[in-house]
Amino acid sequence: MKLDRIVFAMAAAAGTMLPAAANVQIPVTTPSTALVLQVGDNGRLYQQYFGRKLADTSEYELAPRGAEAYITHGMEDYFEPALHINHADNNPSTELRYVSHRSEAQSDGSTLTTVTLTDPEYGSEVDLCYVTYPDVDIIKSYTVIRNGEKKPVELEKYASSMLHFDAPAYYLTQFNGDWINETTCSEAPLSFGKKTLDSKLGTRADMFVSPFFQLSLGEPAREEEGDMLVGTLGWTGNFSFTFEVDNNGKLRVISGINPYASQYTLGKGESFRTPEFIYTLSDGGRGKASRTFHDWARKYQVKKGMDDRYTLLNNWEATYFDFNEDKLIQLIGEAKELGVDMFLLDDGWFANKYPRHSDTQGLGDWDETADKLPNGIGRLTEEAKKQGVKFGLWIEPEMVNPKSELYEQHKDWVITLPNRDEYYFRNQLVLDLANPKVQDYVFGIVDGLMTKYPDIAFFKWDCNSPITNIYSNYEKENQTHLYVDYVRGLYNVLDRIAAKYPDLRMMLCSGGGGRTDYEGLKYFTEFWPSDNTDPVDRLFIQWGFSQLFPAKTQCAHVTTWNKNVSVKFRTDVAMMGKLGFDINLHDMSADDLKYCKNAIKEYNRLKPVILDGDQYRLVSPYSGQHASTMYVGKDRKKAVVFAFDVAPRSVEHLTNVKLRGLDPSAVYDVQEINRADASKGDVKSYSGDYLMTVGLPLFTTSRMSSRIYELTRK
Ligand code: DGJ
Repeated sequence: MKLDRIVFAMAAAAGTMLPAAANVQIPVTTPSTALVLQVGDNGRLYQQYFGRKLADTSEYELAPRGAEAYITHGMEDYFEPALHINHADNNPSTELRYVSHRSEAQSDGSTLTTVTLTDPEYGSEVDLCYVTYPDVDIIKSYTVIRNGEKKPVELEKYASSMLHFDAPAYYLTQFNGDWINETTCSEAPLSFGKKTLDSKLGTRADMFVSPFFQLSLGEPAREEEGDMLVGTLGWTGNFSFTFEVDNNGKLRVISGINPYASQYTLGKGESFRTPEFIYTLSDGGRGKASRTFHDWARKYQVKKGMDDRYTLLNNWEATYFDFNEDKLIQLIGEAKELGVDMFLLDDGWFANKYPRHSDTQGLGDWDETADKLPNGIGRLTEEAKKQGVKFGLWIEPEMVNPKSELYEQHKDWVITLPNRDEYYFRNQLVLDLANPKVQDYVFGIVDGLMTKYPDIAFFKWDCNSPITNIYSNYEKENQTHLYVDYVRGLYNVLDRIAAKYPDLRMMLCSGGGGRTDYEGLKYFTEFWPSDNTDPVDRLFIQWGFSQLFPAKTQCAHVTTWNKNVSVKFRTDVAMMGKLGFDINLHDMSADDLKYCKNAIKEYNRLKPVILDGDQYRLVSPYSGQHASTMYVGKDRKKAVVFAFDVAPRSVEHLTNVKLRGLDPSAVYDVQEINRADASKGDVKSYSGDYLMTVGLPLFTTSRMSSRIYELTRK
């Protein structure tokens, strides 16, 4: 402990303040925003300012001071606290006073600012930690709570972040839904009282609501204008965001692990680190916030965020469980013919005592089903190698079917109530990842497969059940630790995989988009947004996820869902994400196949713009008739515009759509590509100024039609 910290801690403990500490200002700054914390005369820490950076930093002092930065339970505040500790003597209150702060450079170029607070009565400490970046307006904030008492304490509530706002009005956009209906956007004003977005599902935590939100300040959210906070929790488990408007119209936003059934006991000297709440304050509406998140995610957070992605052919919708070696070898050949980078073998390849011929059995027994794959996965990786495509494999390693050898041998590894009938979600149960032996087992599934078949280039890691029947044989008297320890156990496994197989790419899947958070994406290159691949629904689902996640993380596959819609329309929708196919080529017409092959070539050419460029959402599918999104390369030399007519009226009055993000002084050649016959349209030239001021007639009155335009700077 540094000297000034000791001195101050002693003074604080004695109930006095060092004069030097009062009014200490702690700026947490990004390139254009500032969160300024300040120590009050009482030694407590306050949020002095949160907004656009001021040119004259001495003026932060003049701003009306906000509330205490991290409000604790049991003191004078009447609303929702960020922290609630039950002390060993049963005192449920905590008071936090400033001790010290410091800033340290991190190896990835970010800066970590840590503000240490202590409870003078109990000696427990709380670090409020903020990570900022030199080139992107993102703050990550988390808290470390240390038990400085002589006996265990109980954490009742332990938020990652608390932020305060004082605006004339607040509008909250949430993203909720269900399986095959992920990220439905809806906005509502907040008035006095509390609104909570949370999950209690444990594993498939995001099934009903995604762990992110947009909070517009003063007015309803707009796409390219307006002030808003956009935030998300990096936690692959239960989350909670509480928005509470108080009697004075002030709003607090509390983000963290959902404290529901999750009281956590901290032994003497132990500490608890919360997950990161990741946020940006945008003065350019939803669009700017999205681009900020996309830039940050690619550069700092997602696994291989700056690297290319593999296009693929997946067999799930082409075969479901009904395949054998011959069929798969044929599909590997089809992957080659199509021109994708990889073949991905989905569910149904494993288990022998209870072969996985449906979702009712076999989960947990990770040996190849002998009569389906007599020559094992090795025959398939060999064939893939021969064809020059990569090989990927589906696993669901955290789960077990009761009808499996694993369940028969290791029921003690299963999360299940000892004295009640089991309830099954998709005929399965969750393994107890709080248990280190189970962590070893789950790591061993990947490690075993990689050791035996080093040519596996990719895993699709699925997770189809929430935690049900919640009871851990391992946690014993600490049952309320399970939701938290489960996620920590999962990260332990993923850390081991990342350390041993740093180049292994993985897709995060959870019965569709049931797991989509940025801590998870540290270990995964991409995620599966939804089992719903109807292209019209996908316009909405991808629109929702695009609010925080860049195109390269969103897997988008061409399938036979909604066959009434052309292959062109389906492919055009999928080209806005990480393109894949989940379809039998021999079910396609020669023209459709030709179209897809050409589209893959065009996608490969334009990937740097779509996957790594700036995204501008031009027309929302929620507007009813049409949708349009464009991507602009970072050097503004190329752009790709996608336009969809979903349900236009035949007599609709069509107007131009203004493009965005171009260089106004440059001239661009505009050409339609990927036309139905795989041809290209005529080239027309316009200035960037014209395209952004007057726009282009992107839409038609023809239902379910789509167009892609390529823009090339002259
Ligand atoms: C759910 C996934 O979302 C699907 O893509 C597929 O992998 C199935 N599970 C397999 O059981």
